[in-house]
Amino acid sequence: MEQTFIMIKPDGVQRGLVGEIIGRFEKKGFTLKGLKFITVDRAFAERHYADLSAKPFFNGLVEYIISGPVVAMVWEGKNVVTTGRKIIGATNPADSAPGTIRGDYAIDIGRNVIHGSDAVESARKEIALWFPEGIAEWSSSLHSWIY
Ligand code: TYD
Repeated sequence: MEQTFIMIKPDGVQRGLVGEIIGRFEKKGFTLKGLKFITVDRAFAERHYADLSAKPFFNGLVEYIISGPVVAMVWEGKNVVTTGRKIIGATNPADSAPGTIRGDYAIDIGRNVIHGSDAVESARKEIALWFPEGIAEWSSSLHSWIY
């Protein structure tokens, strides 16, 4: 079954949006497979965003991600990468539709509350980076009602 990496960024944690965000993924029918509450250091944040290292916003992005604890999660389900991105909304909250997380809870692209992997391959890399110890196996009893 497909998995994605979802991270509630420091602003989402400090604004009290953790429960709301987890609830949206749960109620959709996706399965929570991994979760940790951690503050990452600069080197780790730079690895996570390595593909963006040449961008002018890179340093500000790294400062933002290391500014406080984040909620790092693995969610599982059919098409969870693409559907997760739809639940999150467009990168710039100015373009995110109402009803999406960024559309409902964010205004500025530099404080857009949540990260979600953009492809199955990047999800695999991000899960390996954030959960090197692996993820506990369990199968939701709801599966027969979702699929
Ligand atoms: P990106 O991977 O392009 O977007 P997404 O998070 O939707 O996959 O960019 C990573 C983060 O970088 C994005 O969530 C917010 C930040 N960012 C800026 O601060 N300014 C920008 O112009 C862009 C494109 C992104």
